[in-house]
Formats: sequence, C-alpha cells, structure tokens
Amino acid sequence: MQIINTAKQTQQQVNEWRKAGYTIGFVPTMGFLHEGHKSLIDCSVAENDKTVVSIFVNPTQFAPTEDLEKYPKDFTADSTMCQNAGVDLIFFPQNEEMYPKNFATNITMNGDITKQLCGKSRPTHFSGVCTVVAKLFNIVPADNAYFGKKDAQQLAIITQMVQDLNFSVKIIGCPIIREIDGLAKSSRNSYLSADERKAAVIVSKAIFTGEKLAQENKLTVEQIVNEMHSIIESEPLAKIDYVEIVDLATLTKISQNTIAILGAVAVFIGKTRLIDNFILERK
Ligand code: PAF
Repeated sequence: MQIINTAKQTQQQVNEWRKAGYTIGFVPTMGFLHEGHKSLIDCSVAENDKTVVSIFVNPTQFAPTEDLEKYPKDFTADSTMCQNAGVDLIFFPQNEEMYPKNFATNITMNGDITKQLCGKSRPTHFSGVCTVVAKLFNIVPADNAYFGKKDAQQLAIITQMVQDLNFSVKIIGCPIIREIDGLAKSSRNSYLSADERKAAVIVSKAIFTGEKLAQENKLTVEQIVNEMHSIIESEPLAKIDYVEIVDLATLTKISQNTIAILGAVAVFIGKTRLIDNFILERK
C-alpha cells in the first residue's frame, strides 16, 4: 500500500493505473476510520481493481465555532485498517497541499438542497464539502466513489454536483453501520462521555420509531415528527437541532412526485452533534 502526500503524485499513480486498464474505487474520508468507513472500503475493494482512500480533515467544511481543532486523528490505526482491508493507496495531504496560500475557488450550490436540514445550522458546511470533494475527484480520477448514507444530505448534494459539473465518477451510497445498541457509527462518537454515550441511543430509537410509523402509513408526517420529538426530548442530555421528514431527492416537503422519503435528525448530546436518518421508498 502506498501513502502519498502530494496531489500530483497521486494523480500520476491513478492515471497510470487507468492507462493499464484498472478500474479505480475511491473512498474520501476525514480519517479516524471506523466500521462505517471499513464497509465503504470493503465495497470499493470488492468492486474495483484498485482502491484509493483519502484522509484529510477539511478545514473549509468547519465553521469557526465547530470542532476542527479537536477533530480526532489516528493515522497509524487508519493506515493499518486500510492495509488490512486491501487499500492500494492512501492520499494523505497536509492543509497547504490542498489549500495553498493563493487558493481562490469555491463551489457553492444554489437551491434548497444545501439550505435544508444540516444546511440551516451549518450554512457554510456544504460549500466546503463540495469544494474539497471536487478537488479530490480531480486528484483521484476514479470510476466509483463511495459515501455513507448516514450523511444523506451530503450524498444527495455530491450526487447533484457530479451531475451538474459532469464529473464522470459514479457515486455509490452505502448503508449506515450501527453499534449493537443502534447508535450510528461516527468518528464524533469518540467525544461522548460514558453518560452521554448511554444517552446517545435515543437518537437511533427516534429514527427506528419514525421509520416504523412511516412504514405503517397511519399517521401524518407532522404526527410522526412529533412522536420522534417526544422520544428525543425524554432524554435530558439530548437537545434537538432538527427532526424532519422530507423528499429524499429535493430535501423539501413531500409531494405527489416523491419517490423516497428521508427522515433525518440532528441532536446535540452534550456538546456533540450527532446525525442519523431512515430512508423509505414510497409504494
Ligand atoms: O464525509 C466526510 O468524511 C467528509 O465530509 C468528506 C466527504 C470526506 C469531505 O471532507
């Protein structure tokens, strides 16, 4: 497994593989890899000749008040996991490599998709995500790129960007991986104290109940959202950022044209903001 710090060398290596006829799978990450990332890597390794993982904590997707400085890092554990999983190359750039002093281009998406859900409380977040992901897609010209469905809004936005800007990479969404008690795996779970970790299970409880009620199709969307609110509010350590049920494609109100619905929550457990969701195809 190669570990490369520069964009140019990574691009060269991936282009050589492409010329040799290999298919390329790409898993962009911010490191501190867990079972959720491992499932993306496993899919990529199974479906492509070569797999590239990027590890870069992207500063432009964090607001000044957010957790950039304390975002967890463990490159040794990450590289061991990648090596064991059959990754061929880790792209591991420093900030100056991705954002040199004269860096001046940003991608901002118009329309509702970046303004709903997490976009309401994190208004600059998705511009940072789009910019770094567009850069990464140019540095790693892959056939397939793998993203977790836990970040359903991110997945929808990246799919939209790839369509809008004619990237040739195919975006593949992979299922949420959960702890035994239901909590969705996330690098940010490492911030939780023992009490907070116990309390955090309320997030997936609300998601599972919301999903069941939506499947039963007896209550209105508003009633289901209220039920989910009540469940989360029963936990004193939890503070709701949002609970919403929307059209998965547009992230706005469900309509006659809705093919799949997204039930999504963001909840603070102490200072840690956790997200989770369910997706349901409409019959
Ligand atoms: O999902 C993440 O880890 C990040 O948002 C991503 C896609 C690697 C961009 O920094």
